[in-house]
Amino acid sequence: MAELHIIDHPLVQHKVSLLRDKTTGTKEFRELVSEIAMFICYEATRDLPLKEIEIETPLAVAKTKIISGRKLAFVPILRAGLGMVDGVTKLVPAAKIGHIGLFRDPDTKASVHYYSKLPEDIAERDAIIVDPMLATGNSAVSAINILKEKGAKSVKFMCIICSPEGVAAIQAAHPDVEIYTGAMDQGLNEDKYIVPGVGDAGDRIFGTK
Ligand code: URA
Repeated sequence: MAELHIIDHPLVQHKVSLLRDKTTGTKEFRELVSEIAMFICYEATRDLPLKEIEIETPLAVAKTKIISGRKLAFVPILRAGLGMVDGVTKLVPAAKIGHIGLFRDPDTKASVHYYSKLPEDIAERDAIIVDPMLATGNSAVSAINILKEKGAKSVKFMCIICSPEGVAAIQAAHPDVEIYTGAMDQGLNEDKYIVPGVGDAGDRIFGTK
């Protein structure tokens, strides 16, 4: 079973607490999502391969290391995942961005696929899905299915808050997919929102409610 990484760095915990606050407004919420995404991405990219090079400093030749050309794609699940793109691309500016559109059927809570646009060379890329809330896991599992069908070299899943149910759903369907999260909450309410969570992350990022 792939690992569940809970990124409990004090700065992440502090910023997740601010996110939860119902008085946090849209501007600050959006900035926090982006910053937390950057911290989590730092851990999700810890296994990037390095190669040794030589660089001339003003004093001597240094044998030193740089990232050795692994190709990454970040794939936000629309629409809340868009809020994490700015943060992750600050860390990996050369990454390509794919999009997967899934909405939650209000009655069945099943995830319905309505859009995807992935980099043409996705089969040469390691994909990292980004979505702030891993709730039932239905969208996450569908997005992972799509990326695997398109031949992505590997798939990771990054979120800001997860539920135990969401983690279990990914691990049951895709035991090879590593999950990176800033917090694990108690569970889901009857509307399948994460409790205590942050409410509707998409509405809070885009100010639609
Ligand atoms: N999506 C959200 O935005 N919030 C939740 O709690 C669950 C899914």
